[in-house]
Amino acid sequence: MVAAGLTAGCTADSARPGRHAPTAAATPKPVVPKPVAPTGRHQAGIALPQPAQGNLLAVVADLGATAAPGPLLAELGQAIRTLAAGTDPRLLGLPPGDLTVTVGVGPRLVRAAGAALPGAVDLPRFSRERIAARARGGDLLIQICASDPLLLPVVAAALLDQAGDRVHERWRQSARRGANVPVADGRTAPRNPLGFIDGIVGPHTTAEQQRDLWLAGPAAVAGGTLAVLRRMELDLSRFAALSVAEQEAVFGRHRASGAPLSGGTIASTPELGAKTPDGRYLVPADAHVRRANPTVVGAGLMLRRSYSTDEPAPGLLFISFQNDLRTFTATLAHMDVSDALLRFTTTTASATFLMLPGFDRKHPLGCRLFG
Ligand code: HEM
Repeated sequence: MVAAGLTAGCTADSARPGRHAPTAAATPKPVVPKPVAPTGRHQAGIALPQPAQGNLLAVVADLGATAAPGPLLAELGQAIRTLAAGTDPRLLGLPPGDLTVTVGVGPRLVRAAGAALPGAVDLPRFSRERIAARARGGDLLIQICASDPLLLPVVAAALLDQAGDRVHERWRQSARRGANVPVADGRTAPRNPLGFIDGIVGPHTTAEQQRDLWLAGPAAVAGGTLAVLRRMELDLSRFAALSVAEQEAVFGRHRASGAPLSGGTIASTPELGAKTPDGRYLVPADAHVRRANPTVVGAGLMLRRSYSTDEPAPGLLFISFQNDLRTFTATLAHMDVSDALLRFTTTTASATFLMLPGFDRKHPLGCRLFG
């Protein structure tokens, strides 16, 4: 009996049709995740859904010299509404599930609308960059996220079709998130390809988001935010060659639990002054969480919503949202001095975008900036 049971899986018996024919009751129902409203004060795909969907495709494009941003963005917003509602024939019948599409405009377009507007400034250069000209900057970001990875290229094709020859694609990146790990208050964060839980600290409460995430004004941008995208290759083999204690010293947190090396739980604030009896910092001087700490840097909180990459190389598509570009630039400038993590990174794409305020049927996407 036992022998028969063990071999059953590899014999012709198990392949014989009809032997385990599924009954109606056993037919699995497709699991369709909860929809995310595309309209409202803020665009979807930034603070919502929480947790973020497992799959992302970012498409960065330029606008042709004669293309007017106002009508183009309005059309994209309209297409986003029909795609998210599942009524767009270009979706080819696929259920949209928790699809979100989030649109941002690059500094060149923002400057055309107003040189003093948030989002009008390009990102400066930083250390450890190897960025091809076409992977730096760009006029338009279309960030597509969904639990179903099949949706991403289909939705990108629909939106690029809508834009036609008004836009020219520069680069695109697909990426995914690891399993969600509970952090606190129902919040979760995934692990990154270095094995560490990523996305713990950030503007998570409504008050923090009002203060550090959403732009309060001027009216043309209120409800929007600023995005930074940095594609970072990671030297996985060099990092894996470190002992676990050395890996933890790079970040300043425990790998398994996410707790700071100064003690407590994953939700505890790192105590940067805490020392060992012989006077060494528990969170080392060059640990990432010390170099990137908002209080140490003197900057606000950034909402990090990064995804892991495989192609063109294993790494991270770092994505942060903040209402002041200085939050990102001051943090990375402070990291550039001595952050232990940077030794394992090479940045191969870099861009910043003004993520437009939310929209609805009566207020088309981008209308307050380009209307
Ligand atoms: C491949 C590159 C990177 C990896 C793998 C990485 C990973 C991590 C991890 C694991 C943490 C600790 C847990 C957490 O709070 O989420 C963290 C914290 C943080 N990272 Fe990064 N990060 C990277 C690049 C960056 C960059 C480029 C910035 C911004 C310039 C940044 C800003 C931050 C900030 C602000 C924190 C929170 C620090 C704190 O207050 O404890 N990170 N990062």
